[in-house]
Amino acid sequence: MKKGYFGDFGGQFVPELLMPPLIELEKACEDIVPGEAFQNTLHELLADYVGRPTPLYLCRNLSKRLGFNLWLKREDLAHTGAHKINNTMGQGLLTKMMGKPCIMAETGAGQHGVATATAAAMLGLDCIVFMGAVDVRRQAHNVRRMELLGSKVVPVESGTRTLKDAINAALRYWIENQRTTHYCFGTAAGPHPFPTLVRNFQSIIGREARQQMMEKVGKLPDYVVACVGGGSNAIGMFHEFIPLDSVRIVGVEAAGTGEPGCYNSAPLNLGSPGVLHGMHTPLLQTEDGQILPSHSISAGLDYPGVGPEHAELHASGRAAYGMANDDQALDACLELTKVEGILPALESSHAVAWVLANKDKIEPGADVAVCLSGRGDKDTFIIEEALAARESKEKRS
Ligand SMILES: Cc1ncc(COP(=O)(O)O)c(C=O)c1O
Repeated sequence: MKKGYFGDFGGQFVPELLMPPLIELEKACEDIVPGEAFQNTLHELLADYVGRPTPLYLCRNLSKRLGFNLWLKREDLAHTGAHKINNTMGQGLLTKMMGKPCIMAETGAGQHGVATATAAAMLGLDCIVFMGAVDVRRQAHNVRRMELLGSKVVPVESGTRTLKDAINAALRYWIENQRTTHYCFGTAAGPHPFPTLVRNFQSIIGREARQQMMEKVGKLPDYVVACVGGGSNAIGMFHEFIPLDSVRIVGVEAAGTGEPGCYNSAPLNLGSPGVLHGMHTPLLQTEDGQILPSHSISAGLDYPGVGPEHAELHASGRAAYGMANDDQALDACLELTKVEGILPALESSHAVAWVLANKDKIEPGADVAVCLSGRGDKDTFIIEEALAARESKEKRS
């Protein structure tokens, strides 16, 4: 395999001015990350600070109704409420050991921003977070959290004012500030080495899930399922299971409103290959390569691209990639909340929605392990808005 590539996908499509920090980071990945000092400290932080291992929970009530076993890998119970902290503790520690005083991030749902701000506070780093202005509004609670943690949040007013534009702003900032600042990329995407670095920090999810399944039922899961934005919780859940042929791997993209021709966030299902944010990967784009606006009810999935390792898993057929739309995600969120007492993030709700939509195709008695990537406290405002919009639409029709 060509370095930095997953099949045809990946690479380092960046301006020359970004090559020095990427080369420096690649070297740090080789020299620092495998070392005993880094690994021991990270292990300790993940256990005592993040709260790992997160539980693997059998949804007793829903499983009874579905006729198969629905397991949730509870990343919502990790410190700060999502899987993002697995990556930011790793990259935060790396920043420190590279001798840089500042860390910088982009964020969509605000979970990666909060997780970076948390790592920065804990490790004594300065922190700046770029966030699309639309997301600043719809994830206001997380903006407040980042500010309380001592980070500076910069609203990005260009483009569609969402995650794609926040990444553009962050990459520009990095060019100017590379000597002092590490760019803590929030998902398993972007230029090499980020897709591999982030996947390695997130793959603890699948490693734990495999061990927990063996301890609890003495067998591998039949399915592993996760939502796909840039792809970090999904590749973290999947990586351990890729060589295990009996395990079916399913990623779930956001289909948006689900109406024909609507904007969506499903580049694997509905996009075509191109270059964005330093990588060659499927994108939502026009025939002449203009990036299309994406849409999802969940800010964290609202992205027109996808990490290159997912592109390869899709192309090779090792993983299947389905879709769930806004309404299905909202219904799944409400159902899990009411039936199991777990309020999931709207991002994670897409994965649960896929399971509910495909319940008749899943064999009775099967073990289905879903990565519950985050908790939904941040989404209560959006859920209320969506329910009000649904009610007024129903009244009109
Ligand atoms: C809870 C949660 N799940 C999933 C995602 C999507 O990101 P990724 O595909 O990198 O896991 C996000 C992004 O913000 C998130 O906050």
